[in-house]
Amino acid sequence: MIIAIDGPAASGKGTLARRLARRYGLIYLDTGALYRAVATLLLNDGADLSDAEAAVAATARITPAFLEDSSLRTAEAGRAASVVAAMPPVRTALFDYQRSVATTPPGAVLDGRDIGTVICPDAEVKLFVTADLTTRAERRYHELMANGMDTSRDIVLKDLAERDQRDAQRAEAPLVAAEDAYLLDTSNLDIEAAFQAACAHVDAATGIN
Ligand code: DC
Repeated sequence: MIIAIDGPAASGKGTLARRLARRYGLIYLDTGALYRAVATLLLNDGADLSDAEAAVAATARITPAFLEDSSLRTAEAGRAASVVAAMPPVRTALFDYQRSVATTPPGAVLDGRDIGTVICPDAEVKLFVTADLTTRAERRYHELMANGMDTSRDIVLKDLAERDQRDAQRAEAPLVAAEDAYLLDTSNLDIEAAFQAACAHVDAATGIN
């Protein structure tokens, strides 16, 4: 089974995806981490973020351990990831890996921006997780502060708004809900309520339970 989860930054889709993977016995792939890894490698090399050739070469240097590296979780890495993700050759270079994780039994939960539309249009379940901008900014602000990063609410809000705009406006694989995606607005839901709503949808869509 494949569960495709898309949505804007800080919508809660990562936490939800991880919990759904555990609940249904599936592998979890955070596809945003792939773009963050490429961007971080370029930043570390002092390379230009718009250098598509260097970015494609960087995709071959991603290791499972690096995907867990805390340096990928900074606001700077998120911003840079959104820039490299707009380059079609980078998306192409990361396609096969994402497909292979999704299609290897027992299946997977993938979260990102184009999972239900491009990577796994064949997914049994598609969720589009969203929340209003101020709610997302507040969540991301607390997350960054809890991780010891110094920032302000205004900076985080501006950063998310810019990222939304770039991810949704790009020509290749923009952030958009698949036509057959189930819309889950978490603005007024805590993580437990969002998880219960998502499980109810997965169960109904797959005939489990
Ligand atoms: O989900 P995230 O915030 O970790 O993603 C970081 C950036 O990577 C995001 O702003 C856009 C890009 N991304 C993408 O273009 N496609 C994906 N499937 C996942 C992330």
